Amino acid sequence: MTSIFEPVTVRGTRVRNRAWLAPLCQYSVDARDGVPTDWHLVHLGARATGGFGLVMTEATAVTPEGRITPHDTGLWNDAQATAWERITGFLASQGAIPAVQLAHAGRKASTTRPWRGGVPVDPDAGGWTPLAPSPSPYPGLTSPIAMTQAAIDATVRAFAAAASRAVDAGFEVVEVHAAHGYLLHEFLSPLSNGRTDSYGGSFRNRARLLIEVVDAVRAAIPDIRPLFVRLSATDWVDGGWTLDDTVALSALLADHGVDLVDLSSGGNDPGQRIPVGPGYQVPFARAVRAETGLRTAAVGLITEPSQAQAILDEGAADAVLLGRAALREPTWPVRAAHELGLPVPDAPYPVQYLRGAYRS
Ligand SMILES: Cc1cc2nc3c(=O)[nH]c(=O)nc-3n(C[C@H](O)[C@H](O)[C@H](O)COP(=O)(O)O)c2cc1C
Repeated sequence: MTSIFEPVTVRGTRVRNRAWLAPLCQYSVDARDGVPTDWHLVHLGARATGGFGLVMTEATAVTPEGRITPHDTGLWNDAQATAWERITGFLASQGAIPAVQLAHAGRKASTTRPWRGGVPVDPDAGGWTPLAPSPSPYPGLTSPIAMTQAAIDATVRAFAAAASRAVDAGFEVVEVHAAHGYLLHEFLSPLSNGRTDSYGGSFRNRARLLIEVVDAVRAAIPDIRPLFVRLSATDWVDGGWTLDDTVALSALLADHGVDLVDLSSGGNDPGQRIPVGPGYQVPFARAVRAETGLRTAAVGLITEPSQAQAILDEGAADAVLLGRAALREPTWPVRAAHELGLPVPDAPYPVQYLRGAYRS
């Protein structure tokens, strides 16, 4: 049995426990310049002081046109990196591992924030034309431009440059976002990739861009730094991307220096039918771990400490990521330690909060 509070070491990084903060877009950049703000410091910082072992940023864009909304964070310039450095410094000072999720929104770019409807941003209000594998839009969103070879090459370089800036800014883990119907998932899925060149058609061709990005990012970060990839394990649509594809891709990613895959699902087609329920995506983490031997992280309606511990006990994953539960309860790991009664080698409590510690 692996305790949720047993540290895990990936390459040169030791994470104090296996309860990790999932990437959570905050859409809280004020000046539309991709620079993280005090909101991000407090949001991520509170989860670090709350005991999460690894604290992952929201989807952080590698280019301006790769943002979901104009209020997303980025890492395409040095001003953004400098602002991130303040945040990573605080996370590390609290014993958490700072991790960044690097992303390109593809055809789902240039939308308003969810609480403003998530609709296309008007061009007069700063909206832009998204880039995608093919010109077909995500229903309801702006029609994208199909990427040229030059645009593909520039995007690969942008992922690598952002990864390099991330490491310089103090991030210890880089995750490439290839899920949820954003650019890299759009290339993977036959539902959104209608290309007839070497990036479309066969499985290997559809996986080509992700592999190029992974190779470029791996080369841009030191060997001691872990590289993760988030995948949508299935499109949940007939004729779409499947779990078998995910297993085959994960084996390929392992060969290209990826250390862990983080298994989410869906997001590429409004026709998806998802059987949402507690731990509904855990079987994907279990299958990839069992069939490839690669480390996995499970995510999706993992809310209770005993549930999280059971996922580790059965060997379905090496870590669990919490999203909405962590929004409700930034100190979830502290409660988990108390409820599970497990030894906690690295106390998740800042000394300033000791007088508020649970007493058994
Ligand atoms: C407010 C919000 C923002 C999110 N932003 C991202 C993101 O930036 N990148 C990503 O891969 N997933 C994102 N997700 C998905 C979460 O990482 C997670 O996979 C999902 O919420 C399921 O986990 P949960 O049931 O623990 O919330 C977001 C989810 C929410 C609720």
